[in-house]
Amino acid sequence: MDDGPSPDDAKTTAVPTVAPPNAAIRALVENSPIASVISDPRLPDNPIVASNKAFTALTGYDEDFIIGRNCRFLAGDATEPWLTEEIRRGVREQKSVLVEILNYKKDGTPFQNAVLVAPLFDDDGELEYFLGSQVEIDVDAPSLAKARRMRAVEIVKDLSKRQREVLRFIAKGLLNKQIAHELSLSERTIKMHRAILMKRLNAPSAADMVRLAVEAGM
Ligand SMILES: Cc1cc2nc3c(=O)[nH]c(=O)nc-3n(C[C@H](O)[C@H](O)[C@H](O)COP(=O)(O)O)c2cc1C
Repeated sequence: MDDGPSPDDAKTTAVPTVAPPNAAIRALVENSPIASVISDPRLPDNPIVASNKAFTALTGYDEDFIIGRNCRFLAGDATEPWLTEEIRRGVREQKSVLVEILNYKKDGTPFQNAVLVAPLFDDDGELEYFLGSQVEIDVDAPSLAKARRMRAVEIVKDLSKRQREVLRFIAKGLLNKQIAHELSLSERTIKMHRAILMKRLNAPSAADMVRLAVEAGM
């Protein structure tokens, strides 16, 4: 007998195939040890177009499932609606948001997710992608998120004024060309700053750099 639609149906229905993003976009998250995804707001329902191994390790979902879906599959019955609304607002206003929200892994295990959602703009300053970055907060050590933020503040404090300026634009989701334009510097100089910043911040990918900058309150 057919029991009618179950809540799991949304997780098993077919999703449209999305074209893979270019290598540069994949590289934003590929090398990050932090669970990360990239979504494309120009496609219907803002689906994920790239994810990394850490995201699969954290959530239990494999790439075949993830790509083409909106990230709402992490939410569930006890997810705080007001925090979901904060993420929605960030997406709407194209601003970074960092919230600690209750999410669910594939096997149904709930987890506290310190999720960052940040816009990424293209060379012309148009919204191109969103970066999502998920850190599991241990319920027995709930201050991890705060510890991460304090560490980020400490690291950023030691940067030069120029490096902080560049990082602030990176946190806003701007690419080298636009940052160069904003600071009246050459793109090459910005590239150099970016490389130095990645080293100094110990950030293996741009996704980590954006996350750290937002955690530092930039
Ligand atoms: C890049 C990106 C990453 C996201 N990551 C999460 C996440 O980790 N957890 C979560 O609950 N929502 C996340 N969201 C929000 C959901 O995709 C979705 O917008 C939210 O659950 C609201 O769902 P609704 O559109 O059905 O109201 C993310 C959104 C974007 C754009």
